[in-house]
Amino acid sequence: MAHRQFFVGGNWKSNGTQASVRELIEQVLNPTQIDFARVQVVVAPVSIHLQFARSLLKPEISVSAQNCSLTGPGAFTGEVAAEQIIDLGLSWTILGHSERRTLYGETDDVVSKKVNRALAHGLSVIACFGENLQEREANVTLDVVARQLAALKEGITDWSKVVLAYEPVWAIGTGRNATPEQAQEVHAMIRNWLGTNVSAEVAAHTRVIYGGSVTDQNAAQLIAQPDVDGFLVGGASLKPAFKVILEATN
Ligand code: G3P
Repeated sequence: MAHRQFFVGGNWKSNGTQASVRELIEQVLNPTQIDFARVQVVVAPVSIHLQFARSLLKPEISVSAQNCSLTGPGAFTGEVAAEQIIDLGLSWTILGHSERRTLYGETDDVVSKKVNRALAHGLSVIACFGENLQEREANVTLDVVARQLAALKEGITDWSKVVLAYEPVWAIGTGRNATPEQAQEVHAMIRNWLGTNVSAEVAAHTRVIYGGSVTDQNAAQLIAQPDVDGFLVGGASLKPAFKVILEATN
């Protein structure tokens, strides 16, 4: 089996003040003792806290944007372009989060084009996708995930700069996580899809991480699954529980 470095992302969503960001970094993130050769750690604050968070975090922890514009710099009020994220010295962005898809109308096609543009400008991408409750109950999870992956593939020019984040929508912020078996089933399917539709090498090396109500209580069981390479953590990444989640990869 190929060696894949674990990856744990903290998606802070639209949360936090400068004071709370400082407290989280100084009291939880910076003191956490983990082997950074074994786990890559990336946190994603709101865009106006990106530089502030970068200035406080120890260098082993990377900072990511939560979104990135489909357009370049220019007359696009409210948008942040890949070039501007790079200009801050940052190298990651989340794209395709379900909240962007459902609340802000981002389609598979828009997400794919954003991924393409972000990669073209030198960013690495945490690409999110996953089925909603209705789709899971209708037993079409694997079809939905395959459709989302096929769209992403159109935009991906360099798989080594992409982390795939499987986030079942029904598990996001609900306190109802996918069981380790449910996560493993979909992650194995994703890896299989990559092997068939991209290459054996991409299937072996791409990190596939899980997001959706990851906590200090379930992280160890989830990470024990062979195809779960880490997490994208929402609510718990704002709390001391994040330390336990990070340490679960040790
Ligand atoms: O991107 C992370 C995410 O959507 C999961 O959120 O709060 O369920 O951990 P949460």
